[in-house]
Amino acid sequence: MNSPYFPLSSIADMSTSAPISELPAGKNPALRVVPMPADANVHGDVFGGWIMAQVDIAGSIPAVERAQGRVATVAVNSFLFKHPVFVGDLVSFYADIVKTGRTSITVSVEVYAQRMRHSHEIVKVTEATLTYVATDESRQPRVLPA
Ligand SMILES: CC(C)(COP(=O)(O)OP(=O)(O)OC[C@H]1O[C@@H](n2cnc3c(N)ncnc32)[C@H](O)[C@@H]1OP(=O)(O)O)[C@@H](O)C(=O)NCCC(=O)NCCS
Repeated sequence: MNSPYFPLSSIADMSTSAPISELPAGKNPALRVVPMPADANVHGDVFGGWIMAQVDIAGSIPAVERAQGRVATVAVNSFLFKHPVFVGDLVSFYADIVKTGRTSITVSVEVYAQRMRHSHEIVKVTEATLTYVATDESRQPRVLPA
C-alpha cells in the first residue's frame, strides 16, 4: 500500500536524531519483525499499539517457558516509547525475566530498531515491564513449577 497522503518516500526521509546504539551483546532477541505500512499511524510512523502488541508477545515467550504452560498478561507495569519506529525498520525485542513470585513472572522487554533506510543505524526505541500470571485450564492462577 502506498497512500497518496503518506507516501513511503516521505517515511524514508524522516530523521531520527536518536542516539545510535548497539544490539545487546551475547543475547538472542525473543522476536524480530519488520513493521509494514498497514502498521503505521496517520503520520506514517509505526502505531504505538502495534509496538505494544509485539512487546506483549515477546515478553510472553520467556514467561511461557518459565511457567511451562499458558500465561495471561495481568499488568503492564511501565512502558516508554523513547524514539519512533518507522515502517521498514528491523525491530528486535529482547525479553528477560526480572522477577518471579508464587504465580507471577515479571519480564523486562527492550526494543531496538535497525533503520534499514538509514545506513542500518540501531536505535533503542522502547522499554517496558510486564507481569504475566501462570494459569490453569480454568484460567485461574497456577503456582509456578520449581
Ligand atoms: C491473570 C488473572 C488470571 C489473575 O487472576 P487474579 O485472581 O487477578 O490473580 P491474583 O490476584 O491471585 O494475583 C496473581 C498474581 O498476579 C500478581 N498481580 C496481580 N495484579 C498485579 C498487578 N497489577 N501488577 C503486578 N502483579 C499483579 C499478584 O501479585 C500475584 O502474583 P504472585 O502469585 O506471584 O504473588 C486474572 O486477573 C485474569 O484473567 N486477567 C485477565 C488476563 C487477560 O485477559 N490478559 C490479556 C490477554 S492475555
